[in-house]
Amino acid sequence: MTALRGIYLDHGATSFPKAPGVADAVRRFLVEEAGNPGRGGHRLTVAASRAIEQARQLVADLLGADPERTLLGPGATFWINTVLSSWLAPGDRVVVSALEHNAVMRPLRRLEARLGLEVAVAEGAPATGVPAAEEVARLAAVSPTRLVVLCHASNVSGAVLPVAEIAAAVAPVPVLVDGAQTAGSLPIDFSGLAAAAFACSGHKGLLGPAGVGVLLLADGFEVEPLVCGGTGSRSESEEMPEWLPDRLEAGTPNSPGIVGLGAACAWLAEQLVAAIHDCEAGLVRRAADGLAGIPGVRLHGWDPAAARVGILSFTVAGLDAGELGDRLDRERGIMVRAGLHCAPAAHRRLGTFPDGTVRVGIGPFNTDDDVDSLVDAVGEAARARGRNLKSGVSRGNQAT
Ligand SMILES: Cc1ncc(COP(=O)(O)O)c(C=O)c1O
Repeated sequence: MTALRGIYLDHGATSFPKAPGVADAVRRFLVEEAGNPGRGGHRLTVAASRAIEQARQLVADLLGADPERTLLGPGATFWINTVLSSWLAPGDRVVVSALEHNAVMRPLRRLEARLGLEVAVAEGAPATGVPAAEEVARLAAVSPTRLVVLCHASNVSGAVLPVAEIAAAVAPVPVLVDGAQTAGSLPIDFSGLAAAAFACSGHKGLLGPAGVGVLLLADGFEVEPLVCGGTGSRSESEEMPEWLPDRLEAGTPNSPGIVGLGAACAWLAEQLVAAIHDCEAGLVRRAADGLAGIPGVRLHGWDPAAARVGILSFTVAGLDAGELGDRLDRERGIMVRAGLHCAPAAHRRLGTFPDGTVRVGIGPFNTDDDVDSLVDAVGEAARARGRNLKSGVSRGNQAT
């Protein structure tokens, strides 16, 4: 995606542009159907309810889930908070990877302080922090482990964790998967994942609008609502309904966002997520090869043989990550994320705390040219830094 808007390489933060059809679907909903779903029986309410349920079906189909157990809410963060608050009790032990995002670590740390939880960390492989199933199983075998929480892919390095293998190895301990960086970027079949719950954002790989997130719940796992309120159903009662999705979806939903997400999932299903993944994996490898050839560049958590999504973190010796990010945007119109990426534990594990990294996030609309422009711009910045250093040294030499 070049054009006037520049080169967008920050898909780890959010997708841009959105999938074809998303903006039209949102607009059509707002103009033609925007009643309050489930509240009353007039035609706009019915149209809105139908639109939401169609979107739910599209999301569920894309992720291999049961639509009745596909919950739609404000974001991955909301659903992770909901599950952790519901499933953890005083004295419980929780096992996490060393690569978790603050969407997991902040609610966990708060619950740790409130409930006296024990949080055990699987350190993972030396270079990547990706844990093997045996390591997590060993930690989860310690009583009283109540839950394992794992990101499906690191938002710092892009490394994919073997969550299905881990879920099988730690059974019967349930696994909550944070799929914020994989949904829409990696083919996902929730029914075959063996995880108890899977939370993801609608605005990253799923290419929908911000403000919508998804929770998939496996059969036999129930969650208490974090937020209670009106649902349009059982209006005679002051208790939350017992059934899903109403039990976990209190308050008026973000209907335009949900409809947009449905349109995005329809587009992804048509394109095939596997094909998008292959394309993004090829581009990220091209970026890694190009960047690794620049003197002073270091890739972090990169293992060429490992499974990954389209995310890559790097630093350039002697260059501040934030300054390099600003420079790429200002001088070349290249948008990346620079600094710390809301995952201090992952940065510590990868040795990039507190300075952070420049993070490249490839999306389905990026091209070889986008990646080559990035490599060229980083090469130029690294060479300029080298020249400045040399001239500084020679000026220093003359002065002595
Ligand atoms: C790994 C991971 N988990 C969770 C989140 C939170 O997602 P959201 O902000 O959409 O709730 C993010 C967002 O960057 C993420 O990268």
